[in-house]
Amino acid sequence: MLAKSFKEIVDRRRAYRAFDPNFILPEYVVKNSLENAIKSPNSSNMQLWEFYRIKSDKAKKEVAKICLNQPGAVTASEIVVFVARPDLWKQRQAVHLERLKNVETKNVKNKLFGNSELSYFTKVIPMFYDNSFSFFRNIFKKIYIWKKRRKAPFMTDIFSKHIEIVAQKSCALAAQTFMLSIVAEGYDSLPMEGLDAIRMKKYLNLPKTAQINMAIAVGKSTPEGLRGKRFRLPYEEVVFEK
Ligand SMILES: Cc1cc2nc3c(=O)[nH]c(=O)nc-3n(C[C@H](O)[C@H](O)[C@H](O)COP(=O)(O)O)c2cc1C
Repeated sequence: MLAKSFKEIVDRRRAYRAFDPNFILPEYVVKNSLENAIKSPNSSNMQLWEFYRIKSDKAKKEVAKICLNQPGAVTASEIVVFVARPDLWKQRQAVHLERLKNVETKNVKNKLFGNSELSYFTKVIPMFYDNSFSFFRNIFKKIYIWKKRRKAPFMTDIFSKHIEIVAQKSCALAAQTFMLSIVAEGYDSLPMEGLDAIRMKKYLNLPKTAQINMAIAVGKSTPEGLRGKRFRLPYEEVVFEK
């Protein structure tokens, strides 16, 4: 693996729209980078994500088509589809409860939130993720939040409509770790949301409740893959201080 400074990696990471279609990407590049991506911060450590590696020529052709035949997808050595899975919350909760069986501190109260890890996963997580009877649940939540917020700040984005956003946020953080890692390995990538999400879910045999976060093309970039210099708004226009 190439050692690069963080700044070099950030500067090098660009959206490359073309790769060398004949290049054979070493297997470890995507594997290492996905292992790094999995270490990304994520909400409540619920890990509501999945990563689908599109490797064979046949699969790549199909997925490139789903990605609207963008040149970056057509020429990629591999495409990884990042999927947010808010629908897997019960399964992930069960994994945590199993893990906590063997953790001595499971009943130790967290100073900040006043609950233990065990009660967090048994009580707080279902309150947040369980969408059954959402009409009544949301009324209950509204009253609960209203009461809490009279005294002090309290979380407000805990309704059923926020769950997908929560899972998507964490999945996007994994995508960013992945892309930076790809650069650290000496290769380049293209994140793509320009795709047919319904067809992608069908192709990957995913349920409707799964959410396509983005597809990321990976490969050895070619000079024509870069669309000019990087453009960003100036620091002063987007950073505010109080
Ligand atoms: C979530 C997301 C989706 C994107 N989708 C596409 C896409 O479908 N096609 C494309 O050519 N670029 C896509 N991009 C790349 C952006 O256009 C690119 O990151 C932006 O123009 C800034 O350029 P830079 O990444 O080279 O700094 C996407 C980027 C992100 C973060």
